[in-house]
Parts: sequence; structure tokens; C-alpha cells
Amino acid sequence: MGKEDIIYIDDNPFTFTPGETILDVAHRNNIFIPTLCHLKGTTPTGACRICVVEVEGARDLVASCAAPATPGMVIHSESKEVINARKNIIQLMLSSGNHNCAIRDFESDDWTSFQLKTLEADQYNELCPVWGDCKLQDLAYRYQVTTRHMPLSESKYPIERENPFIQRDFSRCILCGRCVQACREVQVNNAIDFGYRGADTKIIAGTDVPLKNSDCVFCGECVEVCPVGALIPKESLKAKTRFEDIKKTRTTCSFCGVGCQMELSVQDNKIVGINSAGRDVAPNNGSLCVKGRYGYDFVASPKRLTTPLIKKEGKLTESTWDEALDFVATRLNEIKDRSGSDSMGVLTSARVTNEENYIAQKFARAVLKTNNVDHCARL
Ligand code: FES
Repeated sequence: MGKEDIIYIDDNPFTFTPGETILDVAHRNNIFIPTLCHLKGTTPTGACRICVVEVEGARDLVASCAAPATPGMVIHSESKEVINARKNIIQLMLSSGNHNCAIRDFESDDWTSFQLKTLEADQYNELCPVWGDCKLQDLAYRYQVTTRHMPLSESKYPIERENPFIQRDFSRCILCGRCVQACREVQVNNAIDFGYRGADTKIIAGTDVPLKNSDCVFCGECVEVCPVGALIPKESLKAKTRFEDIKKTRTTCSFCGVGCQMELSVQDNKIVGINSAGRDVAPNNGSLCVKGRYGYDFVASPKRLTTPLIKKEGKLTESTWDEALDFVATRLNEIKDRSGSDSMGVLTSARVTNEENYIAQKFARAVLKTNNVDHCARL
């Protein structure tokens, strides 16, 4: 490895490959540099500047997510100037809207007592719905930033609730543009963009119409990447379903045969939210469709069948599994004896797993002795 492949971060040498940014090299080597607008796999926009670092020889601080590593670069990731810049950015973001997790009643308490106090106020409707699961809150805590002496600006725009899936609270938006990148470069849907100018800037759909009247397909990619509480699912983590009460369970989506990996948020044995299993997890690599992300109310539906039903004298009657399986086996044998194996067939489904489809064809071929196997996409 030649000297031309090396940069120095906080006095330590690290190799890089051409095309990597300073942030890529730092994160690959477990060096903490905070990010807000950065979305892996999309074009860096340098919008938030929370990732700034000091590069020797550069006139200003440099956004590490957008700066390519170059040979011999000497970088300071936590110098006094860098820390001050990050604190200023966080403070400006906190004061630019309704981020009440880090500003409520804070006067003379130390930071930890202050944060614990916000838990006491947990039933307040106005407390941010993503308290405890917010990147801006994490950074405010890490850098001990409050807005104690800053005037707070009111949001000009009302909360948008006019669709069944996504709630948009513009007062909590930090205009990082992650949602726009996700919509444009990950989903390639182009439903949202920055609109207006200066202090009026807002993320808009189409010509600033509600999402339901735009090209939005409600895949929820924007919600997944939003680092704050600006975009949340409608049935979201309200006061009584705080982040820390929720159990995460990894599973596979059952809506089609792609096998998207997802993570269920479960509280009191009930699904209260779904996210992807992560950007590095194939095959969906962080994306889900509207059905996978929001179509989960059927799981707890009281209308689901929980016992087998056998038609007796024209009426569906509840039975035990043993009775139902004996009944089916007897009827299949009768049909086979009377009309032969090829009078029967097995329909499976694109919604079940490969393993279940394998078992279905095995049952058809080895037990029923027929090759009549197909699938019905609508099952
Ligand atoms: Fe680098 Fe926002 S994360 S500018």
C-alpha cells in the first residue's frame, strides 16, 4: 500500500480507495462523525453540515460526507472549532421549529435530570412522538445543546393528516432533504421536493398539494429515513407507545414472494409499526412497499380464522385440527380411488415462502401422485 492511499484522521493513518469520502473512511474505521442529511447510496447534498471536520490547509470546515478522501489529507474530527460548529448547527435546528424534547422547562437542571423530567410529561400530547428515537435529540444530548436563550420560531404550516398512512409535521422538519433523496434516488418516484425560498422553505409534494393528491405511492421510504419527528406513520408511537416500551422482531414480509426483510415493532403482543430490517439487508435493502409497511392490521383482526371449519349439512362448523385433517385425507383418498390422481391438483401461492411452496409440490407429487401443481397470485 503506497503513501498515496492514506489519509490521517486524528493522527491515525487510514487507507482509502478512490471515490471514498472522508465520512466513508471514518465510519469504516468506527470513528464517530455525526450525520443528518447523509443517506447511504444517494448523492451527497451537504445540506445539514453537521458532519463538518477540519482539514489541514482548507480555508473552512469541510462537510465530510461530500468531500472525497485525497492522498495525505490530515483531518481533525473533534477539534474545538468542529465541536463549536456542530453545537451551533444543532442549536439553530432546535430553535427553527417545535423540538420540545430538548427545550421544555430547561432552566437550571443538569442535562440528565432535565431529560428525565421530560419523561414525567410523557402524556402531554404535544411532546414529540419520536422522543427517544430522534437523531437530532441524540445529537443535542451528545453535544449538550439547548435552546434556553434562543427565540423559537413558530411553524407557518399546519400538520398534514389528510391521508391514511403518513403524518407530516412541518414544525419538526429540519430540511435535511433525506426524504427527497429517498423518494428521488431510492424509490425513483420524484413525488416530493424542496419548495419556496428562505424562511418559507418547505418540503412539498407536486405543486404543494397534500400527499394524497400527488404522485406519492405511500411506500413510506421518506418516513423511514426522516431523522426527526417530521414524518411519522399515522398509527404511530403516540405517548403511550414510547420507543423504549417496544420489542423489535425481525421477520419476512408475507405479501409477495420477494421476501423483503422487515422489523416489527411489537407492544403488548400487537404490531404497532413496521420498518425495513436495514439498508445492508437484502433483498430490499431498506425499502418496503405500502402493503409491507402499513398493511399489518389484519394480523390482529378479530375476523381471522383461528380454528378449522368443516361444512356439515350445508353449514360451516368449527372443528379440531385432527378432525379436519382426517376429513381431508379421507376425501382425497376417495377421489383418488374413484377418478385417479390426475383428477386432483394443488394450487399454492406467491405469497408464501419458497419452503412452503416446496412442501406443497412435494405433497402433490409424492402423496397425491400428480404433477398438477400451479400457483395463484391472488390467493
Ligand atoms: Fe454531511 Fe449533512 S451529513 S452535510
